[in-house]
Amino acid sequence: MCGIVGYTGTDPGLSALDVVLGGLRRLEYRGYDSAGVALQTPDGIVMLKRSGKLARLTEALEAEPLPAAVTGIGHTRWATHGGPTDDNAHPHVGTGGAVAVVHNGIIENFATLKAELQADGVDFASQTDTEVAAHLLAREYATTGDLSSAMCAVARRLEGAFTLLAVHGDVPHTLVAARRNSPLVVGLGEGANFLGSDVAAFIAHTRDAIELGQDQVVTITPHSVSITDFLGAPVQGKPFHVDWDASAAEKGGYPTFMAKEINEQPHAVADTLLGRTDVAGRLTLDELHMDEQVLREIDKIVVIACGTAAYAGQVAKYAIEHWCRIPVEVELAHEFRYRDPVVDQRTLVVAISQSGETMDTIMAVRHARELGARVIAVCNTHGSTIPRESDAALYTHAGPEVAVASTKAFLAQITACYVLGLYLAELRGTKSREQVGEVMAQLQAMPDKIAKVLQGLDQVRRMARWMADTRSVLFLGRHVGYPVAMEGALKLKELAYIHAEGFAAGELKHGPIALIEPGQPVFVIVPPPDEPHSLHGKVVSNIQEINARGARTIVIAEEGDDDVVPYASEVIRIPASPVLLSPLLAVVPLQVFACELASAKGLDVDQPRNLAKSVTVE
Ligand code: F6R
Repeated sequence: MCGIVGYTGTDPGLSALDVVLGGLRRLEYRGYDSAGVALQTPDGIVMLKRSGKLARLTEALEAEPLPAAVTGIGHTRWATHGGPTDDNAHPHVGTGGAVAVVHNGIIENFATLKAELQADGVDFASQTDTEVAAHLLAREYATTGDLSSAMCAVARRLEGAFTLLAVHGDVPHTLVAARRNSPLVVGLGEGANFLGSDVAAFIAHTRDAIELGQDQVVTITPHSVSITDFLGAPVQGKPFHVDWDASAAEKGGYPTFMAKEINEQPHAVADTLLGRTDVAGRLTLDELHMDEQVLREIDKIVVIACGTAAYAGQVAKYAIEHWCRIPVEVELAHEFRYRDPVVDQRTLVVAISQSGETMDTIMAVRHARELGARVIAVCNTHGSTIPRESDAALYTHAGPEVAVASTKAFLAQITACYVLGLYLAELRGTKSREQVGEVMAQLQAMPDKIAKVLQGLDQVRRMARWMADTRSVLFLGRHVGYPVAMEGALKLKELAYIHAEGFAAGELKHGPIALIEPGQPVFVIVPPPDEPHSLHGKVVSNIQEINARGARTIVIAEEGDDDVVPYASEVIRIPASPVLLSPLLAVVPLQVFACELASAKGLDVDQPRNLAKSVTVE
């Protein structure tokens, strides 16, 4: 939520405004209620901000150009305190207008601080919590004359979550930032340095970066980066190199980022499997750095995640329990923390997060560790908070996911969790190396099968277009098909603003079947016919039941599964696969359906209303 970018450089030919706007364009997925920039010029800080998407700001900048500058900051907002108006857009300035501040997060004690500042005669120009930080910083700088120590002093007074980034008219070529519970990374250039909510902010300029820890202040000039804690004591940042480049963060000829990311799924799965086996074919997870004895002794796994990542966890539960014979609970991270969970040293917590910055999941990770659990992060974003605060990390290699609705990260999360499950199964002796090798080979065959699904979706696109006026769609699945059904419903809700529900097909007769009326569209995910528990037959019966009540049944079934044909209005074919791996295929038509239907309704597929990519508030 909210994207932050900062730049300072020596090259007079590289305008800070261009760098900052380029960064904001790549960060706009984080929030798109309003946007603004502030530049440092010889005449002090100049600033422009507008409510609405970034395009409104760029139009305003054309109408009212700002002077040239080589140091600047920018912000794209997802409103929390104060509606999305021009006044509430960031940056905010402190009294006198010499310092400009952008902020991501929520300052929980802002009301007390605001009252204190108002009692001192400070006037406020917005309803935001951020403005408090701008006034405090102006006041501290006036006392100390040092921007870094002024930022430390402000950070010590704030409670809640914040990344603050500031530029001062009297301190040339310098940006100062502080972070607590909100993301911030440093980009290292030649004669230039950058700050961003994530590396996408500066990926067009550098792939070398530094992770910042919790409660740290960083000061950058074009030639230096210095990091301290909130008391001003120097600390070391952790350097890392980004393994994708700016082109990966562009649309690459697709109409939307979501369309591009759906099409990248074969690579996301293949790359997540890369390098996970040694020369002897043994599954190795060197990056885990976790004591094997500890992993042998765990007696329970709890997956914590939100939204799509939680559905990936629900899919993984079926596989991990089957392979490892360890009970697996899947819990929404925001519920986990507040229900006194039974977790101890023998619990392995798996925190799944694409962004690594979801505040609900961060808080759950912290709580789990306080209770003594070991935490493994399954994450797509290097340098982010969740892997940094976990005991170990298993990275998905999906590449940057820009569209707000998660697609390729979901497949990569399932894949990484499966690799983890197989690793644990071999380690704990519930599966032999040969058995693990067999499943790995089946997993390695999945990218080609996903590519095949992607090639055969014209029927889904057509259906989505003529169903654009549909007001409600139901999704049914069983076993691993159940979380896939819920994920299909989530995609449709968030992209097309249509009422959609995913149900366990077996639950239908316990209530939801009352929803079925003539013409009601129902997607049904059919398990493979050779799956061992005869679920296939039961799901075919469910299709018959709803077909008999007039539903329009859209059935996702394996090639060659003809049992479904008599009761299906439409059959969408996917290649044969073992049941546990079938979610990697079955979800793809549902993603494409939601994307196409939303496009047919003329909606913004990449930036659905009210949402933001990375939910950094609780
Ligand atoms: C839905 C979606 C969200 C995220 C959820 C968790 O399409 O993208 O439900 O999955 O907000 O986000 P991460 O994985 O970044 O923790």
